[in-house]
Amino acid sequence: MDVIKVAILGFGTVGEGVYRTIQTHGDELQATLGKRVEVASILVRNKQKSRDIREEVLVTTDFEEILQFPQLDIVFEAIVEKEPTFTYLKQAIQKGCHIITANKEMFAHHGEELLKLAEEHHVSVGFEATVAGGIPVIQTLGQLLKINRVQYIQGILNGTSNFILTEMREKKLSFQEALTQAQENGYAEADPTNDVEGFDAFYKSMILSRIAFGEQPNWQEVEREGITSITSELIETAELAGLRFKHVASIHKAGDNLTAIVKPVVVGKEHPFYHVEGVENAVNVHSDIVGRITLQGPGAGMFPTASAMIEDLVYVCQTNSSGPRPEKSGTATISDKNNETKQQWLIHGHVKNYIHPSITWLEQINETTFIVEATKRDVDQLNQQEQSLRYFTILGEYEPIKKPVKVL
Ligand code: NAP
Ligand code: HSE
Repeated sequence: MDVIKVAILGFGTVGEGVYRTIQTHGDELQATLGKRVEVASILVRNKQKSRDIREEVLVTTDFEEILQFPQLDIVFEAIVEKEPTFTYLKQAIQKGCHIITANKEMFAHHGEELLKLAEEHHVSVGFEATVAGGIPVIQTLGQLLKINRVQYIQGILNGTSNFILTEMREKKLSFQEALTQAQENGYAEADPTNDVEGFDAFYKSMILSRIAFGEQPNWQEVEREGITSITSELIETAELAGLRFKHVASIHKAGDNLTAIVKPVVVGKEHPFYHVEGVENAVNVHSDIVGRITLQGPGAGMFPTASAMIEDLVYVCQTNSSGPRPEKSGTATISDKNNETKQQWLIHGHVKNYIHPSITWLEQINETTFIVEATKRDVDQLNQQEQSLRYFTILGEYEPIKKPVKVL
């Protein structure tokens, strides 16, 4: 066989990016794999849409037609939602095809089953594009940090949310204007609720957790919040304090306890996430030998995602394993950052002469915004007194701007 025949499921932002990259990088693929890569078929939902696809490629709405093709080696999947995607990919594996997916919602739910099935059928699964767009974080964690014990991971994992927060701050766009631009640029999901309510970052963090820790936290116990309540006023106030809002997913292991939180935080200038702007994503991996590594790059969009999938094409052709699956025992633990650990917070709202022995009021930014040092339990108590209060963890050290605290 001197040709590798592939099918692409979906011809939206990602599917078209894969198709075009196979055309533009055919020589590099052939030189690396020793075989020509040919797109044989493409699955779409609506055949009437006009698309720039070569005549000899089968374009169909019927997955059965793709499966029946005389030669089919690899299936790229870039459609949406869990079904019918999961069913299609199972069928492709059972037919002996390698699969490469960008669909994190499906993979967070069914990745384990697909990896197991692939192992049984001696084919491989590429899923680099499911997390952090073009950043090779899956391969880095799964293949290049095998001896290091991962302690915790923090990531800006949703390009759309980071793009919106950046546009609202830099260009003073409204939330809706920024979201519309993210949709026009092909960053947002078909239903952007997944992006702006934190589901997309949640799915990605669960995939990362499986790679880094060999397990996932109980999904029901993961605190998940998106960016829809981050107003322009909050963004401007944080800026007065030298802080920027970022939507961050964190996964920690303390003892046997694996926890994850997905929510907006504020970051100081010294933190590596401060300068991660626009559609960029970044992942901080803290491990016992190397310390902290930050991987940063484009988190969404046509070609960054195609890049991850095309590199996966080489990976699945050159390996017989069904994807990175580290052992659970290879992870380190750190002391629990629990409700009793003191940390810094940005607090926004009307605080009326509230005195608490263990809250340290560091600075007052304006009438309604304070920087404090306190435990999670303390700020929760504060919130019980004033339910309209908003509070956000500060990542990185807060650098005081030297405004006196009037509240005390
Ligand atoms: P998109 O632009 O909305 O395109 C989706 C494509 O899938 C369309 O071509 C659509 O067909 C086709 N499709 C949808 N449901 C189908 C079904 N049931 N049967 C057959 N075809 C179907 O989406 P996208 O942005 O390319 O994203 C695709 C996947 O990649 C999603 O799972 C997404 O989460 C993931 N992803 C996206 C990005 C990104 O930057 N956009 C990055 C990483 C991962 P029609 O064209 O006929 O409507
Ligand atoms: N909608 C996703 C994002 C695409 O904005 O990050 C990349 O996974």
